[in-house]
Amino acid sequence: MRRTARFLVVFLVGVALLAYLASSAVQRSTRRWSEADIAQHMAGLAQKTQPALLARWTAGAREPFEAMLTDLARDERITAAGACDQNNQLLARTPAFPRDLACAQVRQRMAAEREDKPTLPGLVWGSNWSLPGGEVYLSAVPVVREGSPLGLLLLVNDISIIERQGARLRQLLLMVFAGLALCAGLVALIAARLSWRGFRKELRRFILGESRRKEFLPIVADVRELVERIAAEREMDGPASAWNPQHLKQALVRHFPGEKVMVLANREPYIHERGSDGTVQIRHPASGLVAAIEPVLRACSGVWIAHGSGSADRTVVDNKDHVRVPPGEESYELRRVWLSEQEERGYYYGLANEGLWPLCHLAHARPIFRGTDWATYEAVNRRFAEAVCEEAEGEDPVVLVQDYHFALVPRLVRERRPRATIITFWHIPWPNGEHFGICPWRAQILQGMLGSSIMGFHTRQHCNNFLDSVDRYLEARIDREQNSVVQHGRATLVRPYPISIEWPSRWVASAPPVPECRSGVRKELGLREDALLGLGVDRLDYTKGIEERLLAVERFLERFPAYTGRFSFVQMAAPSRTLIERYRQLDETVERTAARINQRFGEGAYQPIILLRAHHEPPQVFRYYRAADLCYVSSLHDGMNLVAKEFAAARDDERGVLLLSQFTGAAREMSEALVVNPYDLEEASAAMARALAMPVEEQRERMRAMRAFLAEFNVYRWAGRMLMDAARLRRKETLLGRSSDDISSLRRLPK
Ligand code: F6P
Repeated sequence: MRRTARFLVVFLVGVALLAYLASSAVQRSTRRWSEADIAQHMAGLAQKTQPALLARWTAGAREPFEAMLTDLARDERITAAGACDQNNQLLARTPAFPRDLACAQVRQRMAAEREDKPTLPGLVWGSNWSLPGGEVYLSAVPVVREGSPLGLLLLVNDISIIERQGARLRQLLLMVFAGLALCAGLVALIAARLSWRGFRKELRRFILGESRRKEFLPIVADVRELVERIAAEREMDGPASAWNPQHLKQALVRHFPGEKVMVLANREPYIHERGSDGTVQIRHPASGLVAAIEPVLRACSGVWIAHGSGSADRTVVDNKDHVRVPPGEESYELRRVWLSEQEERGYYYGLANEGLWPLCHLAHARPIFRGTDWATYEAVNRRFAEAVCEEAEGEDPVVLVQDYHFALVPRLVRERRPRATIITFWHIPWPNGEHFGICPWRAQILQGMLGSSIMGFHTRQHCNNFLDSVDRYLEARIDREQNSVVQHGRATLVRPYPISIEWPSRWVASAPPVPECRSGVRKELGLREDALLGLGVDRLDYTKGIEERLLAVERFLERFPAYTGRFSFVQMAAPSRTLIERYRQLDETVERTAARINQRFGEGAYQPIILLRAHHEPPQVFRYYRAADLCYVSSLHDGMNLVAKEFAAARDDERGVLLLSQFTGAAREMSEALVVNPYDLEEASAAMARALAMPVEEQRERMRAMRAFLAEFNVYRWAGRMLMDAARLRRKETLLGRSSDDISSLRRLPK
């Protein structure tokens, strides 16, 4: 309201000024019009009286002359009249004729002003005249007979009437303006009050999600999401590119003071293995999830809860199953949860990787659903949910649940900690509703996930598929405006958060220079110094399209035989999920295919396919990224794929070409790669040829663009955005007075 008052004051001052200027202008114009009117009137009068005047003038008698002047002065506009002869003698005058008005003076001023003044017919001159008694308007009419001037008839007009009329008009105008201003101010005040009230009401309706204008809902949702995203970025006191470990930490401290972040992920970031010599070695798993989340936890501290899968894991933990990591740079806790072989089989290999993994990936592998696996999955999820609650220090912990291993955990934690902030991120694709429907436990899985405050996916498409699945298989309200699922009065926001990598990468910082990597890698692979090198880096997984990749190399050599002997493709393949039959088959197929191609195109020491079937630590992988001329990511279906991003991050020399499957989430962001359909061997082999022949400048341009994108959209931003969204959600819950027995208000949370 203070704003409205300020506006009113400014408005009234403005109106007053305007009124003053307008009334002055009106007064001036009125006077001009009045004078012109007098002049016109006097001219008419003079013309009319000219014959009588001439007769009197000739007669020379003073009295009839004066009588005639007196007659003239009866005109309401004339106060006095006089007659001057050619010698400036006043021949006759009416009694009111000003004594100070001398004929000679009049003639002088006439002579001086004649050029400026308008000449009306019959009227020589007219002008204002200041006299001791006040201002008058004086008209001088020439009296002429047969061309010879006889004298002047002077007519005096009282212009005080004009002045008075002007002043009255001005007064009136000011009053009208004042009245109008008051009315306008009043109306503005009322309108401001009403519209403010209405605005607040609308805002409230908007915030509370009561708007029923369905046709606008998608637009409103998009605009709101955009605004909130911008607001989240603004909160970081800097441009979006400023997301780094420090800013992430600051954001956490500012928005979740006193809270530690808890990450729940099946895979642990550091695996302690006992080597054949009995020593304990630390291994970094081949996992995009770990590569992305670990820098986040380094930045935020907190605790990572995971399955302790290493052979020496138990030997290094304390009595609460904790070990501080990263080794040598300890900054957060790793809490290990122990699983029996049978539990690991049913939960990890069975339900998660034989059931949900093929269910969510369109890679032609049939999902296997066993009741026993499901039971184990449920039990293990309960175990992990308990571990989360054990680690939680307060009633409203912040829990980041990762991936398809823990679909049931969000609800289990919610039941125990109703006020928890649970952010669940699904690292793999989400299939369309019809496809998801083949899962026998579809409803339980969806229910479990909806315990989350926020459900994150890589792409909008996956979010839509998820919402579609909920729509089909659950009794829940989809709030399209909020992009949320509302159930039992509680909402889960469903949003895309494309994951990324740390920037700058610590592995790049410690990697040898590119020329050293190039020559070192070629030497250890037994290649010539000038050999052209293609690279693939994956877990041995059927979704990665490794077989298709090798077939594309074969087709490339068929089509472009000149490269035989010069081009080799090295495939780093980390053994993965080896207890699963489909993975064993893949291992065999890949080996067979590589051997066949090598036999076909190999010659002496030259082998076009170099298969490195082993786990490689990140420093080694980054050396290979830096040594390669091209890197081919050929996933048949992939949530994001961080190998693509790591390759670009590794190339600080801005060289090398990325071939990227169109079926990865990364292809939506890294359009400067050569995007291909991995099933189309013609297209993929042509892209290889194009990559190897690509001019250095073009390589630089593409690489530079991808690197700039990654610098800005790094994993700190990914985590920061989710945490900001969660923080806003938490604030709004508090504002809306949510209590544990009244969680229905959650329904009204904004998207
Ligand atoms: O891509 C899904 C995923 O869980 C990733 O998040 C992770 O990088 C990878 O699979 C690792 O799989 P696993 O932990 O089974 O070796």
